[in-house]
Amino acid sequence: MENTKKRILSGIQPSGDLHLGNYLGPLRHWPEMIEEFDCYFFMADLHTITVRQEPAALRKRTLTQIAQYIACGLDPEKCVLFVQSHVPAHSQLGWVLDCYTMFGELSRMTQFKDKSAKNADNINAGLFTYPALMAADILLYQADLVPVGDDQRQHVEICRDIAARFNGIYGDVFKVPEPYIAKVGARIKGLSAPEAKMSKSVPEGCVFLMEKPEDIMRKFKRAVTDSDTVNPVRYAPEEKPGVSNLIQIYAATTGKTYEDAEAEFAGKGYGDFKKTVGEAVVELLRPIREETERLLSDKAYLETVYRSGAERAASVANRTLGKVYKKVGLLSR
Ligand code: TYM
Repeated sequence: MENTKKRILSGIQPSGDLHLGNYLGPLRHWPEMIEEFDCYFFMADLHTITVRQEPAALRKRTLTQIAQYIACGLDPEKCVLFVQSHVPAHSQLGWVLDCYTMFGELSRMTQFKDKSAKNADNINAGLFTYPALMAADILLYQADLVPVGDDQRQHVEICRDIAARFNGIYGDVFKVPEPYIAKVGARIKGLSAPEAKMSKSVPEGCVFLMEKPEDIMRKFKRAVTDSDTVNPVRYAPEEKPGVSNLIQIYAATTGKTYEDAEAEFAGKGYGDFKKTVGEAVVELLRPIREETERLLSDKAYLETVYRSGAERAASVANRTLGKVYKKVGLLSR
């Protein structure tokens, strides 16, 4: 029988340890999706090498990330977990899509502009064509929905444009996917500089999933707030970015609304507030960290997960790739 469930696909780069932004933005929603949808989640390792990586550390982080996916609730029996580079169709379709993606549209990508400013000595072609590879990741699986944080919205949009352009020439080859962006948690800001998104490149403001409770608490205690003293815990992102970010983290972590959080801290100062938010995050992450550590001590199990994931992913991906090769006129073997 034809599978009628909608298909979901998403990935995270193992370019750094997973952090609270990755978790509260997309990842925490994935386990509930596997019950309802046909889900593919991968480690976007090919994307990481657009920036220089230390090889042994990249391998280690990729394996850790698989363990973290499982520890967060992604049961490998109920969804497909795989490593991007284990499925060659990603690179193969990536090349084809490079030829259907315009220089001008790639030049407008915010992430390209940011990353080239940060890596001025290594503005390589891969960094530039990154969105075409990401489009290949998504389109290979004919995904209906792509759950990501807000910063990836533009990349899903360009993927839609590329798919529509290709379909316009060759007929309905690709499903045109929709981004799926949660309302709360889609843009977690850094604790030390709440103007910018939380990112591993500012480690003092970034809470990592594997971090020790005392280090997490220290980062929350030092979180930037403001000098407001009259009923200071209020959600007002423009006026109070640091405090609003902490409220967002608290709401996403506990499932409370912003109003409930404001009411809970009415009349209280920032000291109490930051401590409570920090403790909630520590308790949220504790079981994930412990389960990740347990899984990492069973490398043989992780290997079976990513091997079978790659096989299952490849059988879907190769079908789409074959269709694309035929459409564009490549001679079949
Ligand atoms: P990456 O690896 O930078 O981030 C992984 C996911 O985490 C989200 N995210 C955040 N969400 C909320 N607040 C934050 N501070 C925060 N920081 C990161 C991102 O939006 C993303 O959902 N190009 C992608 C990886 C990728 C991909 C794909 C995603 C490659 N191919 C295909 C979906 C589908 C990236 O660099 O995300």
